Amino acid sequence: MLAAALERIARDVASAFDALLPVPDDARARLYQAMRYSALGGGKRLRPLLLVSTAEMFAVDRATAVRAACAIEAVHCYSLIHDDLPCMDDDALRHGQPTVHLAFDEATAVLAGDALQAFAFEVLSDPATFPDPFTRAELVQVLARAAGPGGMVGGQALDIAAETTPFDLQAVTRLQQLKTGTLLDAAVEMGAILGRVPVEGRRQLRGYAHGIGLAFQIADDLLDHEGAADKAGKALRKDAAAGKQTFVSLLGAERAREQAAMLVDQAIAHLASHGAEADLLRAIARFIVERDH
Ligand code: IPE
Ligand code: IPE
Ligand code: MG
Ligand code: MG
Ligand code: MG
Repeated sequence: MLAAALERIARDVASAFDALLPVPDDARARLYQAMRYSALGGGKRLRPLLLVSTAEMFAVDRATAVRAACAIEAVHCYSLIHDDLPCMDDDALRHGQPTVHLAFDEATAVLAGDALQAFAFEVLSDPATFPDPFTRAELVQVLARAAGPGGMVGGQALDIAAETTPFDLQAVTRLQQLKTGTLLDAAVEMGAILGRVPVEGRRQLRGYAHGIGLAFQIADDLLDHEGAADKAGKALRKDAAAGKQTFVSLLGAERAREQAAMLVDQAIAHLASHGAEADLLRAIARFIVERDH
């Protein structure tokens, strides 16, 4: 079930990006090509899958959910382009391919990231995504909060600080929650918003998202520590080399793994009031810690 869902969302997101990002016949072509290189260049499409799977629980039209999913994935792609830049992680490989600043150039990579972020909100606020303007405004607010200084970008700032300042477990947890957790939370929340789930009704889903968010980052840290680079499609063993405090450096691999497994169990427990319609969310939670890429 999960493998088919991953394939299907990858196909849907790719064809939506392809349609939404035609290359213009002028000197901006290089910028659009870099945006497409990033947006169509692979990835697990985990945030889109979370959004669409949550939306599906509430019978949201798939095309609608896929458009919102493209918006959150565009933010994710932008975050990866900038994360890989020489001034940040200085990485050469992403999804088994040269990173955007190497495939193009640094200025184009910065601009492609900027443009993908704006593009995300253009798609999300488009009436073609959802007719009701209040719902669109709520989607925009949730994504903006998750992306900005109170979310992903704030987490990236803490991540840089963690290279030079000692961070304890609590501080690393906060860093990771902002850096990766907030976008995963937003994916689930946006699915619930499209499903018109009232705020009170979202508590369990939020509990689920919170658990998988932390588990996801522990898995990323474990992957960096002991994964296979050819499967991951990116350079590994970078966290320790950068002197970065992570769950693995603080807990050790064994306890980090136990912690991730416990968080996944907790996340799944939050879905107890749901039946088979939440099976995909349960499978995603397990995949998050079992993945090798
Ligand atoms: C990688 O995220 C970067 C982090 C937020 C830790 P993913 O592992 O979801 O990236 P792709 O898109 O599947 O490569
Ligand atoms: C990146 O975290 C997180 C964001 C882009 C927000 P990492 O730097 O750990 O991600 P990888 O390991 O390069 O994919
Ligand atoms: Mg980084
Ligand atoms: Mg990185
Ligand atoms: Mg990492």
